[in-house]
Amino acid sequence: MSEGKNIQWYPGHMTSARRMMEENVKLIDIVIEILDARIPYSSRNPDIDKLAKNKFRLIILNKKDMADMAVTDKWISFYEEKGIKCISLDARNKKAVKKVLDVVNEVCRDKIERDRKRGMVDRPIKAMIVGIPNSGKSTFINTFAGKTYAKTGNKPGVTRGKQWIRSGKGMMLLDTPGILWPKFEDQRVGRLLAITGAVNDDILEMSEISVNLIKYMQKYYCNNLTERYKITEDMSAEDALMAVADIRKCIKKGGEADLGRAARIVIDDMRSLKLGRVTLERPDDIKE
Ligand code: G4P
Repeated sequence: MSEGKNIQWYPGHMTSARRMMEENVKLIDIVIEILDARIPYSSRNPDIDKLAKNKFRLIILNKKDMADMAVTDKWISFYEEKGIKCISLDARNKKAVKKVLDVVNEVCRDKIERDRKRGMVDRPIKAMIVGIPNSGKSTFINTFAGKTYAKTGNKPGVTRGKQWIRSGKGMMLLDTPGILWPKFEDQRVGRLLAITGAVNDDILEMSEISVNLIKYMQKYYCNNLTERYKITEDMSAEDALMAVADIRKCIKKGGEADLGRAARIVIDDMRSLKLGRVTLERPDDIKE
């Protein structure tokens, strides 16, 4: 399990993470923001625009293999319309490195040109990876570095000298990813973070989260629900959970349906792609 999931979100930790990032951002040319392609809005940090001010920017919609491709394209347009270059990625795949290098060179073209005019040829672009826990920052850095790096950045209070990871092709990454925090206060956002596993499962009301997921999927991905659990579009949430309990034999001792277990199954199936590739929010859902 990702260490990021175990993070305790207390204000002191948030403040020290932000301070660390504010210091590090001075050293770099480009901020690479890693989002979860299944929740490309809710996995964003609300302060990122302030933090990355005056820096080149790139948004990566990571875990693209888990998301609905057509909706990912919509999100790419959404962010590009805001003037931020955006790509989708599977950070576990080695090909991710070249894709990111190419696009970073494109985004930082002006700087490369400026350096060249000053006689500084082949000066590497310095990048910092930022994102909320579980978005895939460490995975990306490991793929980029070609080996396993310690997740020092995820541990509050652990410090060591900064190290840079070179790709050998014109880019350097700060080895400790910047941990950001999502917008918890918003209930909709909190629910989505819970479904994707970005926050601890034990602090959440799983049945409620699961019912929300089912309702959303009845609207956009009902075929997947029907295929796996025989849930139909017009079923109430309660009936839908009953259908899951029935098909997966979730029964309590007295013979009563175990809806809690059924709810858990739906979440686990979604996270392990058994309900297909699903994106849990669309640009149209966002009121700004
Ligand atoms: P973090 O540093 O931002 O906290 O995230 P981390 O890299 O630890 O990634 C969180 C989980 O997401 C890990 O799974 C990781 O393997 C998975 N992951 C990262 N990028 C991708 C991707 O593009 N596609 C898919 N499908 N998964 C991705 P885990 O099960 O928590 O840990 P592990 O057992 O794989 O190490």
